[in-house]
Amino acid sequence: MSRTQNEIKSSSQTMHDHFSIIASKYQSVRTLDTEHILHIKHRLDEKTNINMADIGCGDGRYSLEFLKTFDDSFYIHCVDYNENMLKSLDGNFAEQNITNFCTRQGDANRLPLDNKSIDCIVTFNAIHHFDVPKFLSESLRSLKSDGRIFIYTRLRNQNARSVWGKHFPLFTELENRLYELDELKSHIHNADMNIHSTKTFEYSRTSSLDRLIHQAQNKHYSTFDLYDEKTFDESLDIFQQNIKNNFDDLEKIQWTDENILIEIKN
Ligand SMILES: C[S@@+](CC[C@H](N)C(=O)[O-])C[C@H]1O[C@@H](n2cnc3c(N)ncnc32)[C@H](O)[C@@H]1O
Repeated sequence: MSRTQNEIKSSSQTMHDHFSIIASKYQSVRTLDTEHILHIKHRLDEKTNINMADIGCGDGRYSLEFLKTFDDSFYIHCVDYNENMLKSLDGNFAEQNITNFCTRQGDANRLPLDNKSIDCIVTFNAIHHFDVPKFLSESLRSLKSDGRIFIYTRLRNQNARSVWGKHFPLFTELENRLYELDELKSHIHNADMNIHSTKTFEYSRTSSLDRLIHQAQNKHYSTFDLYDEKTFDESLDIFQQNIKNNFDDLEKIQWTDENILIEIKN
């Protein structure tokens, strides 16, 4: 199967539609990891009354983890450009009687945050959707003088080693929005900021083939929305065959997912 222009229908509208459709089922198709949240909490140990902003917060699953981890003096601004994601977040947080947060519909490239108002900006699994220089410059404007930014993402090479990258046709070729560490470092350097630390997180995964098929069909990664329908269906068939060829127990397919956390100090 060769890659044609038709297979690539990437546009911001496509992505916006993707996140609108997936908003109500996002948590059921994605895997929640919390190690990086605890790590960030630890890095912020010396700070009190933290005013945080979660950019590209989606339905707020990671904002919620922070809210559970910190005490009531903590406040989080949940920023996303997708209305459906923010509606899910608002409903979910209201059910849990959470009040120390606000939702802000807005663009990562023009943050709806006041100058020098934020202690810590976090972004999870979203940086590849942003204009990174604009996001960094807006973060710099919004952060207090000793502010921090934490960027959590899969790098292109990490994505290629995942179960999808290894076995789902065209997954790595079509997912050309992700960054390598050098590219992010260069953006950070150009924004006159310093990387304080980087940490790789590795997660041992076990899943059934049925669950993987369910996730792909529900487009749990927006990458799957970069396929046209025919190519996706063909690729899903080949994926199933690849998994059958490479794993004995289709109830217990095992692989390692990797992500990186970059801590930036302004
Ligand atoms: C893959 S989801 C990640 C959601 C959440 N951070 C998580 O890890 O569960 C990416 C999110 O970024 C949002 N997004 C993409 N581009 C954006 C932009 N330019 N400004 C604000 N939000 C954006 C999408 O609407 C979506 O909710």
